[in-house]
Amino acid sequence: MNEINVPRPNNLDAFWMPYSDNKYFKDRPRMLARAEGMHYYTPEGREILDGTSGLWCCNAGHGRREIVEAIQKQAAIMDFAPAFQLGHPIAFEAAARVADMTPEGLDRVFFTNSGSEAADTALKIALAYHKARGESSRVRLIGRERGYHGVGFGGMSVGGIGPNRKQFGALLPYVDHLPHTHLPAKNSYCRGEPPHGAELADVLENLVALHGAETIAAVMVEPVAGSTGVLVPPVGYLKRLRDICTKHGILLIYDEVITGFGRLGANFGAERLGVVPDIMTMAKGLTNAAVPMGAVRTGLRCSAGAWR
Ligand SMILES: Cc1ncc(COP(=O)(O)O)c(C=O)c1O
Repeated sequence: MNEINVPRPNNLDAFWMPYSDNKYFKDRPRMLARAEGMHYYTPEGREILDGTSGLWCCNAGHGRREIVEAIQKQAAIMDFAPAFQLGHPIAFEAAARVADMTPEGLDRVFFTNSGSEAADTALKIALAYHKARGESSRVRLIGRERGYHGVGFGGMSVGGIGPNRKQFGALLPYVDHLPHTHLPAKNSYCRGEPPHGAELADVLENLVALHGAETIAAVMVEPVAGSTGVLVPPVGYLKRLRDICTKHGILLIYDEVITGFGRLGANFGAERLGVVPDIMTMAKGLTNAAVPMGAVRTGLRCSAGAWR
């Protein structure tokens, strides 16, 4: 074990860690010093297998020279370019390259700084899209129990993890949730897409009956949910959700922040699971997590002003 000289912070209280037991951590700090390939290394030089790929984000492994060099090169040429009324050719090239990876029809990209911001942006695009088409009554957003869509107000509101939500008051109005698809009593020991649960998508029809389709803007789900266990969708579930959305003019949004960039064995979950949404969010693997960045892809057309 080679020790790595990383100075121990002398004020651990200065940094409040997200989703962490701060008291426990600060009593027994567990620090990482560096990473390479599929391993992290502690300051004492202990090698740790990175079984979650960072946090489902270092898809290409840690410390890739190509990525390090690209970041160094660009920072030296131009460290920042404003995006309002000014452009930089590489942003357009990056958008075109992401378009090549996403299903046909999702041909426009809006870049963001994180998966959370991408989730909120996708919800805003859905609202703005309906308004631009004269359907301004479509303001209701539907998420799913056990869903995670980051830490912005939109993502938290459609997200369905109770402990993440309950400290923050009422969150957004006009939000409802579909049931989750975790059915261990019926689906234990199955491989791949579980056989039971497609009918849970039909609860969207109940919400349409309750609220009226003309009030519902979008449904947002992770194609494979990943924050309360890895929940693969039941056979036929996404297709049913897609069909009900199409029937009622509701936009289907996939949060592909952790399912993108090869993580399911295809570029995105939409491709792997064979059901294409109207809007797709991504982040993490987009830059191998080396630069904080997210994106929203959609084929919808809307006036540029309305999307800001
Ligand atoms: C499905 C999903 N959506 C959104 C996010 C938020 O992404 P970020 O941490 O980049 O804000 C995450 C993060 O883990 C996620 O798993």
